Amino acid sequence: MSAALDIRGVVKRFGPTHVLRGVDLRVEEGERHAIIGPNGAGKSALFDVISGRTRPDEGRIVARGVDLTGRAPHRVSRVLARSFQTTSVFGGLTVLDNLRCAALGAASSRVLDRWLHSRSIDERARAMLDAIGLSARADDLAARLAYAEQRALDLGIALATDAPLILLDEPTAGMNRGEAARALALIRATTQGRTLLVIEHDMDAVFALADRISVLVRGRVIASDTPAAIRANRDVQDAYLGAAP
Ligand SMILES: Nc1ncnc2c1ncn2[C@@H]1O[C@H](COP(=O)(O)OP(=O)(O)O)[C@@H](O)[C@H]1O
Ligand SMILES: [Mg+2]
Repeated sequence: MSAALDIRGVVKRFGPTHVLRGVDLRVEEGERHAIIGPNGAGKSALFDVISGRTRPDEGRIVARGVDLTGRAPHRVSRVLARSFQTTSVFGGLTVLDNLRCAALGAASSRVLDRWLHSRSIDERARAMLDAIGLSARADDLAARLAYAEQRALDLGIALATDAPLILLDEPTAGMNRGEAARALALIRATTQGRTLLVIEHDMDAVFALADRISVLVRGRVIASDTPAAIRANRDVQDAYLGAAP
């Protein structure tokens, strides 16, 4: 069976800077896979090439047997949904309309009549609104949400699509412990039966959530294994865990 995501030899340069130096990464269908690594290792840059935001200089990105290499973001959105390290909600839309937009993207390919469409979109958006704990803010402009609430909405936008592959870039960054725990529970629940690739700094969160972990250091994956094996890996300890704050 083809992998949910199969990345081979991906190289990305910005001028003289080699950001990705031949990344190999395989994520199995239904797996929750975390990427860890020091700041500047290239984690977000890797998400950029997977999601079509930038084009790799070398290498291949294949999702479920479909070659996504160099495809524009709107051409991969059926396959994957991605959240950004920095918040990216539609500030001028209400909270509920942000989620409606995400749900609309999920529904648009289905053959349903207009009425069914709009009802299913609304139900989907409101279910996500409830799941992210923002029901009371449904009609407020997203720009007026507190930072952690915007992050929760970001997460909801990625999860409200029905893309089989979800990429989340530091979804709990900037949240307090309670908010982060809530976000993790939501991620766990809503990625059931889907494939998750998540960049996460909080090691407790990573070890609680991930089936497998890949460690990215200076633009290369130095290890890809179960949480227990990663914890015990001497190279990883030297390169990253030992140096973590
Ligand atoms: N668009 C870009 N242009 C130039 N350099 C970039 C660009 N995007 C990322 N980089 C560089 O690539 C390196 C990796 O960045 P990034 O992927 O954001 O790291 P991480 O997410 O692992 O902290 C950094 O040195 C960063 O400055
Ligand atoms: Mg990053």
